[in-house]
Amino acid sequence: MVYKRTHMCGQLRSDNIGENVVLNGWIQKRRNLGGLIFCDVRDKTGITQVVFNDETSEELFALADTLRSEYVVGVKGKVIERESKNPDMETGDIEVIADDLVVYSKSETPPIYIKDDDNVDDNLRLKYRYLDLRKKKMQDNLSFRAALTTLARNYYAEQGFTEVETPMLIKSTPEGARDYLVPSRINLGRFYALPQSPQTFKQLLMVGGTDRYFQIVKCFRDEDLRADRQPEFTQIDLEMSFVDVDDVIEIQEGFLKRVMKEMKGLEIETPFPRMTWEEAMNRYGSDKPDTRFGFELSDLTDLVKDCSFKVFTDAIAAGGSVRGICITGGADQYTRKKIDKLTEAVKSYGAKGMVWMKKTQDGVSSSVNKFFSPEQLSELADAMDAKAGDLMLIISDTNKVVFDSLGFLRRHIAGEMGLLDDNKFNFLWVVDFPLFEYDEKEDRWSAMHHPFTSPKEEHAQLLKTDPHKCLANAYDIVLNGVELGGGSIRIHDQEMQEDMFKALNMTQEDIDEKFGFLVEAFKYGAPPHGGLAYGLDRLVMLLTGEKSIREVIAFPKNQNAQCMVSEAPGLVDEAQLEELGIELRK
Ligand code: AMO
Repeated sequence: MVYKRTHMCGQLRSDNIGENVVLNGWIQKRRNLGGLIFCDVRDKTGITQVVFNDETSEELFALADTLRSEYVVGVKGKVIERESKNPDMETGDIEVIADDLVVYSKSETPPIYIKDDDNVDDNLRLKYRYLDLRKKKMQDNLSFRAALTTLARNYYAEQGFTEVETPMLIKSTPEGARDYLVPSRINLGRFYALPQSPQTFKQLLMVGGTDRYFQIVKCFRDEDLRADRQPEFTQIDLEMSFVDVDDVIEIQEGFLKRVMKEMKGLEIETPFPRMTWEEAMNRYGSDKPDTRFGFELSDLTDLVKDCSFKVFTDAIAAGGSVRGICITGGADQYTRKKIDKLTEAVKSYGAKGMVWMKKTQDGVSSSVNKFFSPEQLSELADAMDAKAGDLMLIISDTNKVVFDSLGFLRRHIAGEMGLLDDNKFNFLWVVDFPLFEYDEKEDRWSAMHHPFTSPKEEHAQLLKTDPHKCLANAYDIVLNGVELGGGSIRIHDQEMQEDMFKALNMTQEDIDEKFGFLVEAFKYGAPPHGGLAYGLDRLVMLLTGEKSIREVIAFPKNQNAQCMVSEAPGLVDEAQLEELGIELRK
């Protein structure tokens, strides 16, 4: 028997006083004050205080006395005005005086408290995720995500996009991460890959005449996890025919404008600023710059190229650079000890050391006083626009190490100084990415985005002669230092695609094996097309003010890519392996 509820637990207000109501929910807490028992009954919308009086019914009172945390109950009663109102609770003006109670199920003492600010170990939260999900904040995050998903569906449908599902058991995709593989029983010795994205299929849909495709889709990438990375995550994925960069961007700005208006009540200005990749790297040391604060990079290479400090001159001689950031007002806050910590932190970005300078009323002090005259130090400080009270941090190395280290430092320090304003939403397009990047580990050139990204029109010839200088028709949408999404205008011309494969040093065999089906499809009339994919988890994370996408995914994986609830990945039976023709190495 289930009581038909009349209200949710977060709904009752003083307007309801005098009404007979029925609530269903969980017991948050129970206090027995002699002749009165107070219970907080909770569901996803909130909490209502329910009172059991021993004068109403002894039997009812005795049953209420058996209630414990997380018991599931139904309560009938009358709404009355509270004697001592609780302004911290939305339902704090009223309480329900109970005249009937049913216990649907009992609960053992839960291993975690159902409280938004409960500070428990993450793995425990993930193991008991179904309890964690009872927290209001988690339910609010799920509802927010659902509303945003609905908004996306409506918006793209209005814009003429057709929602199409693409297969999950596929051949490897070109996104460049490691694949999750699924062995085939019917085709022994062969494997499916789970899609890293629907990239190839959405392009085939364009060849198939779908014109505008859209999908909210799970993607799978076996990569190292971070706060904004999960092995399975969700994309809002789309592709459009007969478009250029501006067309794709305009549709996205319409979407994000609507998202901000309907989900956050904020009017944001469009068009968003656009910054070239080169400018982003030079000014912020990052292809996803957080523009909510300053601390921009200064290039000091020219200024120090003839100095006597070998660390700088060696880096320059090896083709690298010397750059610094000026932390406004950071001189006092950053003691030697704190600077040592920063030096340690940049080591994980490959930096072998870090030079610091502080400007005071009397001049410049630094970790390299021995190598530079006071005038030279002043000159460096001026080049970084430093004022008295500022801290300067300088890195010399390959450009990659310099950018990665300074990019990390500026955001890390802004965080420590409390400059990351969660109520500021700085959308930014980063455009004109290089078409190729040099993969140091593999010692070869690879496509920065994927091999179907087209070069900028004016660089089409370069692709034949000097491919690695080509800029791409690619764009990323960045919000507050997070890459929200990315896309490109694709190659639809067979000859250009061949040039691209050639520049990547791919043999015909490689091409046939990896993307033969797409190359084949393009022989039969491919429309010019382009698209983009958002990381839905990241978008929801940023708009709910969360620090990790795990907070906006119902059942995320932990740091070791495990599902703590179901204990995946698990072991399998010998018989299952046998059927798949797989033998495990001991
Ligand atoms: P890309 O690889 O840039 O592009 O991915 C698009 C967006 O997906 C999100 N994302 C992730 N989110 C959580 N965890 C991950 N491991 C993860 N990896 C990526 C990011 C990213 O911006 N097919 C192309 C898109 C296109 O060209 O149309 C693609 O997948 O927010």
